[in-house]
Amino acid sequence: GRPSSLELLGNRYPTDSVTNLTPAIIAKLPLRLHTRPSHPLNTLRTLIESHYPDFAHLSSLSPLVSPYKNFDELSFPQDHPGRAVTDSYYVNKDLMLRTHTSAHEVEVFRRGEDKWLLTADVYRRDEIDGSHYPVFHQMEGARIFSADAAGMKEVEEDNARLRHHLAQANIVIEDVPHISVSNPNQETHDPLHSELVAQNLKLSLNSLMLTLFGGASERGSAPLRVRWIEAYFPFTSPSFEVEVFFRGKWLEILGSGVVRQATLDTANVPNKMGWAFGLGLERIAMILYSIPDIRLFWSTDERFISQFTDREITTFQPYSKYPSCFKDVSFWTPQGVTLHENDFCDVVRDVAGDLVEDVKQIDSFIHPKTNRTSLCYRVNYRSMDRSMSNEEANEMQLQVVSRLQEQFGVEIR
Ligand code: PHE
Repeated sequence: GRPSSLELLGNRYPTDSVTNLTPAIIAKLPLRLHTRPSHPLNTLRTLIESHYPDFAHLSSLSPLVSPYKNFDELSFPQDHPGRAVTDSYYVNKDLMLRTHTSAHEVEVFRRGEDKWLLTADVYRRDEIDGSHYPVFHQMEGARIFSADAAGMKEVEEDNARLRHHLAQANIVIEDVPHISVSNPNQETHDPLHSELVAQNLKLSLNSLMLTLFGGASERGSAPLRVRWIEAYFPFTSPSFEVEVFFRGKWLEILGSGVVRQATLDTANVPNKMGWAFGLGLERIAMILYSIPDIRLFWSTDERFISQFTDREITTFQPYSKYPSCFKDVSFWTPQGVTLHENDFCDVVRDVAGDLVEDVKQIDSFIHPKTNRTSLCYRVNYRSMDRSMSNEEANEMQLQVVSRLQEQFGVEIR
């Protein structure tokens, strides 16, 4: 069964019926890859920070937050799927691992910061494959202005400066209207102010995209292509996503928008307005460094680590790929028990750590008479650093099977 308390980052916390943190996840809490010298995530963080030299740079906030802070303060509805225990990691009902850096918006605005970047590890329960990992790193950026004539003059001046800078750059931008019926202005905002702030957000991020992707040599003299898309987030309106065309594909880079006034009211800065964005560092680092598997960021293998130096983006030279070991498991779930794919994946992660490359559900059906569900998963075991024996994979698979039996009462077929 579950322990009655857990020690996390030096403190003890009681557990309860929603506790779903696993030892594999707990082990990640102190690692903070985004501050490790010469680590690609650290280099990417410092690159973005130097693009915003006059912003406050924060990177040491605890990942333990209340669900209130992660969701409610940001206007997430009560029934938002992200709150589910199948999607997020809970220490107990009142404490969870942040699922995004936006969880800190209110506290940072409340401290009086008007321009800031915040980098942190974030946690989401997810499937297992080459681009998903239950811990990843995000960077939040925000800028707020006083919501009056003086503040809007500041926005206009900054817009003029950024427009001038972008006019000289080799960049092509596909824009969307700042405000539309499907991407509305907030009721409390003068639409003209909202337009100015949205414009500032877009100009500022277009300029960041140039810093990150503008130097790619393989594009030759072709321009960098950036496109803006309408989006939805509970804590911004209007909201946008940014995509960049890179090596023949449109890549989703970030989410952003005009900060909801409710957030700023809660933060005690009701007379300000502004924008925020959030981006995933692994996603961008995988593209810029050509890192093929998200597990590599956690590797302690010299062949990985020694390839990187501080403040330099280089192309990763993959070392040899070792053979895969595929193992299937089929089972009946007990009546009335739902086993979410994320539950299965957390069991595998906990047993195999980074020796699992991906997990696929290959079959699912409901028995017409007994109403029981049969599931079959295929686990691909593969080390990134060494050759693994079939016996080793078998042993891990046996452990997965016995945990499934103990924790979920499944019946192996
Ligand atoms: N927190 C959002 C996410 O994780 C990104 C975001 C940040 C969107 C700030 C808007 C403003 O998807």
